[in-house]
Amino acid sequence: MTNTNIPVIAIDGPSGAGKGTVSLRVAKHLGWHTLDSGAMYRVLAIAAHRHKISLEDETALATLATDLEVHFAPLPDLSGTQVILEGQDVSPDLRRESSGAAASLIAAKPTVRQALLTRQRAFRQAPGLVADGRDMGTVVFPDAAIKIFLTASAEERAQRRYKQLIDIGIDAKLSNILIEIAERDKRDSTRTIAPLIAAADALVIDTTGVPIEPVVARILERVVH
Ligand code: C5P
Repeated sequence: MTNTNIPVIAIDGPSGAGKGTVSLRVAKHLGWHTLDSGAMYRVLAIAAHRHKISLEDETALATLATDLEVHFAPLPDLSGTQVILEGQDVSPDLRRESSGAAASLIAAKPTVRQALLTRQRAFRQAPGLVADGRDMGTVVFPDAAIKIFLTASAEERAQRRYKQLIDIGIDAKLSNILIEIAERDKRDSTRTIAPLIAAADALVIDTTGVPIEPVVARILERVVH
């Protein structure tokens, strides 16, 4: 089977829309691989900090993106992705809003996106892939069989992020998260390269007030066995 014959479910949407949890659960049901592309941008931001690379140095960031030694695996409780950077578990750091903000800054740089594109496409392995992010259905896997755009009100997304952070013991303030989410949404949606936008052929699901399982079921219904 050539790589492009392997089915992909692309799940895009803004921060806190539930993409991570929904993607991991859909993949678990199907026995497919997962790609948390946001985790790639986040870990790159953390690695840049460690290697003392400025978030403005696009060339050095792109080289780092190509060479970075990093491994991803779903957390056992499917609450997110475990990320091992150069042999060290950086998963808790990854969830911090500061990592999200730094990720969003470097994600606007074309050569960084290009370097990560190759790595992202390599996740397309049999029997299938569930990929979540901002541009999975528009840029990385435009031929994905199923495209979903998950969204929810900014208030609810901020609430979810707040709960996630508190649950893992990170101090957070709801009003700050709401502001940060709004800033990140704006930057991600208005950048010139691969902006956050629903693919024309995506099914848009608003998860405001909706629990995870019915969303997972709705996506699984679309998979042809
Ligand atoms: O999804 P998550 O909040 O982990 O993503 C962090 C940031 O990485 C986003 O705000 C966005 O700027 C960037 N990102 C992206 N393209 C993706 C996934 C994430 O630009 N496919």
